[in-house]
Amino acid sequence: MSGKRRIGILTAGGDSPGLNAAIRGVGKTAIGRGWELIGFRDGITGLAADRHVQLDGRALSGILTIGGTILGTSRDKVHRMEVDGEVRDMIPTVIENFEKNRLDGLILIGGGGTAKNAKRLHDAGLNVLTLPKTIDNDIHGTDTSFGFATATEIATEAIDRLHSTAHSHHRIILTEVMGHRAGWLTLGAGIAGGADVILIPEIPYTVERVAEAIRERMARGSSFSVVAVAEGARDTTDTADYEAAQLLVKAAKTPEAKGAAKTHLAHVEDMQREHTFTLARELEAATGLEARVTILGYVQRGGTPCAADRLLGTRIGAAAVELIDAGEWGHMVAARGDATEPVPLKDVAGKVKLVPLDHEWIAAARKVGTSLGD
Ligand code: F6P
Repeated sequence: MSGKRRIGILTAGGDSPGLNAAIRGVGKTAIGRGWELIGFRDGITGLAADRHVQLDGRALSGILTIGGTILGTSRDKVHRMEVDGEVRDMIPTVIENFEKNRLDGLILIGGGGTAKNAKRLHDAGLNVLTLPKTIDNDIHGTDTSFGFATATEIATEAIDRLHSTAHSHHRIILTEVMGHRAGWLTLGAGIAGGADVILIPEIPYTVERVAEAIRERMARGSSFSVVAVAEGARDTTDTADYEAAQLLVKAAKTPEAKGAAKTHLAHVEDMQREHTFTLARELEAATGLEARVTILGYVQRGGTPCAADRLLGTRIGAAAVELIDAGEWGHMVAARGDATEPVPLKDVAGKVKLVPLDHEWIAAARKVGTSLGD
């Protein structure tokens, strides 16, 4: 048994069901060893401002089933934070706060952006670990992340319920599901909810192929269709524009050129934001059916975590304490089958786990006759 330790913890990025289960998993395990845990408020923002609370047994009690995060969250980047109206590198301030609080290490719970922040802090010499959370399931290096199972349940139930109106009114109902880069959530919920068409960012679609699938259903006597659309899904033309804009950002050599390319990319993304509504109008014209759009939005991230996410958050949180005990810093605690595994942050930060085109979910969807719009 090692000596007493003092650990900091924060949650960053979009909220996700299971965050509190993970905080509790870390906290109860740490306190069980006589360690101390402090929680920074509102992600990196609170870390930089040194706003924290003591997470003792009382603070951790009753939080397992609660959605969101008891600590609050934000999407700040530690090396480029807006403070008092100017953009500043807050890494030196974070190091000061780390030392002032006599921390042995810091646990950051978050997704891809948080892994980048954590790697920056680790490169600057701090002891950090990350725990993978996101409803998008797009974190590289882990089988899954807490939040994904709950969001899949919610999106599946929504698709189930939308079937009623679709068949009663003989309509096409397009359900926009979260996932701006990866289609895991849309694909999983689309398959589980029996969507007739599933559109994901990894597979550019054409309106004609989607319309064809709907017309084939009409010919078989089904005068309605449910289409699950990822928020990041694009038709082939929009995909080409988007990829060209991304390439410009990558190719930019000077900070000015990078800034201009990023502005252009943001403009392209803005223009494509309404794509589900555009697709609805196009499908009405191509099929003669009425089309309606339902955006699931934050409903997918809200509320109590399902059992699988509570379990995942708890075991990953508890495993993090074991790693700290072993002095293994600079890792994400990944889910690997029924176990956990430390993955170096350099193998996580800046990478995205997309749905591989040969993934069994894609094959299964096609085999049961679901159109993927291609
Ligand atoms: O947490 C990831 C995610 O759910 C994405 O799918 C979505 O694009 C994004 O968060 C939106 O979150 P916010 O509006 O809070 O930035």
